[in-house]
Amino acid sequence: MGLTYFKRYRMEIDLTGRRLLLPGLPPGYRLLSWDDSLLEAHAETKYHSFRSEIDANVFPCLGDWAGCHRLMNEIRGKQGFLPGATWLIVFEPCVGGSREYCGTIQGIRDYAGLGAVQNLGVTPEHRGRQLGSCLLVKALDGFQKAGIRRAFLEVTAQNDGAIRLYQRLGFTKARTVYKAVEVAYS
Ligand SMILES: CC(C)(COP(=O)(O)OP(=O)(O)OC[C@H]1O[C@@H](n2cnc3c(N)ncnc32)[C@H](O)[C@@H]1OP(=O)(O)O)[C@@H](O)C(=O)NCCC(=O)NCCS
Repeated sequence: MGLTYFKRYRMEIDLTGRRLLLPGLPPGYRLLSWDDSLLEAHAETKYHSFRSEIDANVFPCLGDWAGCHRLMNEIRGKQGFLPGATWLIVFEPCVGGSREYCGTIQGIRDYAGLGAVQNLGVTPEHRGRQLGSCLLVKALDGFQKAGIRRAFLEVTAQNDGAIRLYQRLGFTKARTVYKAVEVAYS
């Protein structure tokens, strides 16, 4: 076994007086606010969003269904868990027809009173339709409604698409951090 290091950015946004513009969702998509009965749907969506992505190497639990379930339980159980900053998107092309969960985000208030964005993910078939932007705006709105003035997230430096999305919404890079991950050498 050895250690490898992933470069990541901590990105922050000042929410004081910030007007948040919610992008419209395409037809068939709907936002669902947090409810305990949706824990499994969040975990499943997290898994499908991350399993083939760089972050599944950085956080191996994201590439594993049981790991995503465990992670969702941990987030839900945190003292600072914020239901108002936690959203799911469902795709239901016709009313009463099949439904597919396709986007997830969770928010917590950290020990310093900042809003911490957890694992924004959209499943591959549904990307590029502003679902990710919409989820992030809803989470930031949830932070504002909870009286939180500043929010942050961490993103892997190689994740260019996500970084562009965060910058477009007003996040700036605050600092660089390195995440050590154990890897098996063959
Ligand atoms: C990052 C992510 C949430 C974006 O979701 P989305 O619904 O496509 O986002 P939007 O449509 O609102 O925004 C599109 C932006 O994301 C980027 N994007 C779109 N599809 C993408 C893809 N397949 N991979 C990476 N980035 C993508 C685009 O570059 C676009 O930015 P641009 O308009 O400046 O070019 C989604 O690609 C994803 O879940 N990726 C895997 C999980 C992940 O890395 N999450 C971020 C953890 S910090």
